[in-house]
Amino acid sequence: MTQREEWRSHHGFTLAAIGSAVGLGNIWRFSYVAGENGGAVFLLIYVASVALIGLPLIIAELSMGRRGRGDAVAAFSTDGRGWTAVGWLCIGGASVILSYYSVIAGWALKYFSAAATGVLWQDGAGTYGSYFERFIANPVEPLLWQGLMLAATVLVVSGGIQGGIELFNRWLMPLLALIVVVLAAYSLTLEGAGRGLHFLFAPDFSALAQPKVYVAALGQAFFSLGVGMAVFATYGSYMPPGFSLPACAALTVTGDTVFAVVAGLAIFPGVFAFGVDPAAGPELAFITLPQIFLKMPGGLVIGAVFFFLLSAAALTSMVSLLEVPVAAVLHRTRLGRRRTAWGMGLLVFLIGMPSALGFGPLKHVSIAGKDILSAIDAAVSNLLLPIGGILVALFVGWHVKRATTLDSAGFATNRLGRTWLWLLRTLVPLAVLLVLLHSLGLA
Ligand code: TRP
Repeated sequence: MTQREEWRSHHGFTLAAIGSAVGLGNIWRFSYVAGENGGAVFLLIYVASVALIGLPLIIAELSMGRRGRGDAVAAFSTDGRGWTAVGWLCIGGASVILSYYSVIAGWALKYFSAAATGVLWQDGAGTYGSYFERFIANPVEPLLWQGLMLAATVLVVSGGIQGGIELFNRWLMPLLALIVVVLAAYSLTLEGAGRGLHFLFAPDFSALAQPKVYVAALGQAFFSLGVGMAVFATYGSYMPPGFSLPACAALTVTGDTVFAVVAGLAIFPGVFAFGVDPAAGPELAFITLPQIFLKMPGGLVIGAVFFFLLSAAALTSMVSLLEVPVAAVLHRTRLGRRRTAWGMGLLVFLIGMPSALGFGPLKHVSIAGKDILSAIDAAVSNLLLPIGGILVALFVGWHVKRATTLDSAGFATNRLGRTWLWLLRTLVPLAVLLVLLHSLGLA
């Protein structure tokens, strides 16, 4: 057997894990979901879900991955027997997520290119709605940009764990952190920025009584952390025994949440300063923000930088999603990494075609009243990821022996380890089940 690849350094691994978590979810999705769900109260429930549900699940995923030292299926195995079907569900799920995620990432790349070359600003304010609609309705262009993003993803994954994924994230993630902080600092100097802060940080507690806010917050927590589809189990399988797993998990969760809040600080002050609706929905980033950039002093540069940030953040997440099916093939065949990455990239591209074409040639297709991409996104965030999360919690919390579980997570039998296990066994599955049943209309 050949030597299994491993991460080079603790902080390189942590940056890769943060790179997986930080993505479209933190910027595009966080801003519009927070906007639709009342801002500050949503943020409060979101942070609670991240800490009490997301963090225990990430620790669980990393630990099962490190113990399995293989792909998602190996992570779900004990003594040769296992919950293999769940592992395969994760491999398929990660591929489907990547398929529509790459479509939106392609939009971001298109907007970066249009903003950097100035084309985006030529249409003028007020027409961004039609600019966006014309673009996504085109039968070819969205596929082109989607393909470019996937090709870039394949190139990074082809480089392997140390020379590809770790190296790439080590350079890119600090840069992205710098960019989002600069954008937020700038946004806060806008006149009227205070109302954005108010929206994000001053809770209207009456919204606590609305169940839909809990569903949205939990779904967003799963999506933004990227938990429930064995991404962390796969990354964890390349983790050397010496790394402190709980520390990596805590840094990942903190990094992801801080990034989302800072991105909110970059977006909402502008949204309020220019009097646009924070509940604009998924097009917030692609229609509302360009209008704001056009009116802002220096906005043309800021706009280009923003779409660079969005594309690059998406890329580091796509890399983690592609690694899940790639690791499965590498673990089970003799195919090389490069060929596998290209093959999987192509397959994902094909699976993603309906999502990309759902606004143009496939416009007439509607699933539960939604376009193809939005329907898949809703099914993934509100059903697939929570189901994956419950299964991870049941597997690590109840199926694997208690001592093995605590040991492979790197917890001694101290209070911290006991708290983690308790959360994983009780609060996580129950809370997630409740929200799941609610979003199915059963509770
Ligand atoms: N977390 C990423 C984001 O916020 C997306 C992502 C990466 C993801 N890996 C995942 C989503 C696994 C679900 C499952 O954009």
